[in-house]
Amino acid sequence: MAPAAAKTLTYLAQQKTLESSFVRDEEERPKVAYNEFSDEIPVISLAGIDEVDGRRREICEKIVEACENWGIFQVVDHGVDQQLVAEMTRLAKEFFALPPDEKLRFDMSGAKKGGFIVSSHLQGESVQDWREIVIYFSYPKRERDYSRWPHKPEGWRWATEEYSEKLMGLAGKLMEVLSEAMGLEKEGLSKACVDMDQKVVVNYYPKCPQPDLTLGLKRHTDPGTITLLLQDQVGGLQATRDNGKTWITVQPVEAAFVVNLGDHAHYLTNGRFKNADHQAVVNSNHSRLSIATFQNPAPNATVYPLKIREGEKPVMEEPITFAEMYRRKMSKDLEIARMKKLAKENHLQDLENEKHLQELDQKAKLEAKPLKEILA
Ligand code: OGA
Ligand code: NI
Repeated sequence: MAPAAAKTLTYLAQQKTLESSFVRDEEERPKVAYNEFSDEIPVISLAGIDEVDGRRREICEKIVEACENWGIFQVVDHGVDQQLVAEMTRLAKEFFALPPDEKLRFDMSGAKKGGFIVSSHLQGESVQDWREIVIYFSYPKRERDYSRWPHKPEGWRWATEEYSEKLMGLAGKLMEVLSEAMGLEKEGLSKACVDMDQKVVVNYYPKCPQPDLTLGLKRHTDPGTITLLLQDQVGGLQATRDNGKTWITVQPVEAAFVVNLGDHAHYLTNGRFKNADHQAVVNSNHSRLSIATFQNPAPNATVYPLKIREGEKPVMEEPITFAEMYRRKMSKDLEIARMKKLAKENHLQDLENEKHLQELDQKAKLEAKPLKEILA
C-alpha cells in the first residue's frame, strides 16, 4: 500500500474486516441502527420568526422546550438558500472523492489551523473514529488563513465563505431567541461570547465493513454555544439523554439543520438548557456526509451562568475563560481514555494471571498424580 493511501480511509473501506484501531469496547458500540429513525426531536419551522406579534412567540416556546428536553432540535424554513447548501454538499463530496495524495496536500496533522485529517485530532485517544474531515476556521474573519482552506475542487472557498456567513446569521437569530427565553436582552448570549468564533467541520463517513464494531464519531458534547449540522438523508446522528443507556437516531429531514447546544450554552443557562449528548454511527450500505458549523465564544470570553434562578445553585464554582473550560474538558476526556486503557490492560493482566494459575494448577495436578496413585 502506498503511504498516502494508508493515511486515508479509502483503502480501509475496501477491506472485508475492520482494522483493529477502529474497534471500540463493547459498551461504546452502537445500540441502535443508523436508519431506525425516531421523531422525538422536534422539527420547528422558523417561518415568521421576525413577526414579533405573530408566530415568534410560538416558535420561541417550541425551541425552549426542545432545549430543556434534549438540547437538540431541527429547523426548516430557516432562510438559508438551498442552492448554496446543495453547492457546499457537491463540493464536499468531490473533495472526499479525490485521490488520497490530493487530500493529503491539505493534511492538518501537526497542529495546523485547518485542512484535511482522518479520524479526529485528539491526541491520546486509543480508538479511531471512522471518518475523514475537512476543517475551515471561518471566524473571526481576521484570523482566516486561506492557505489552510482546501482550494480543490474549484469554487469551494467561495461557497464556504458564503455558507459560513449565512450560518453565522442563523446562529445569531437562534441565540436571540434563547437570550429572550432566559429573560435577557436579545444580544445577551452573543455579548457573552465577546467575539464569536466559527469553525466548519465537513465530516465524511465512508461505508464501513463492520459498522457494528465502531463509531463514525464517538459520544461527546460539543464544547461551544450552538452547532448547526447539515446532514444528508442516510442517517447516523444519535442522541442520548440517560447517559448512554438508550439512544435514538435523529430522523434526517430534507433542507433542515439540526441544532445542537454545546457546553457553553449549558453553563450560561445554569444547566437549564441541555448540552446535546450525541455520536455518529456508520453503516455498510452508504457513505454519509455531514457539515457541522460550530459557533463558539472567543477564547477569553467568561464562562459562568448569566442567570441563576430562585432556589438554584450555580453549576460552576467560579467563572473561567472559555479556553480554560475547553482545556479542562479535553484533559478530563483524556483522563477517561487513559483510565479505560489502564482498566483494559489490567483486565488483560488478570486474564493472563488466571491462565497462569490454571496452568500451574494443571501442572500441579499432573505432578501430583503419581503421588495420588501411590496413595490410591
Ligand atoms: C460533530 C458531530 C455528527 C454527525 O461534528 O460534532 O456531532 O452526524 N457530528 O456528523
Ligand atoms: Ni458534535
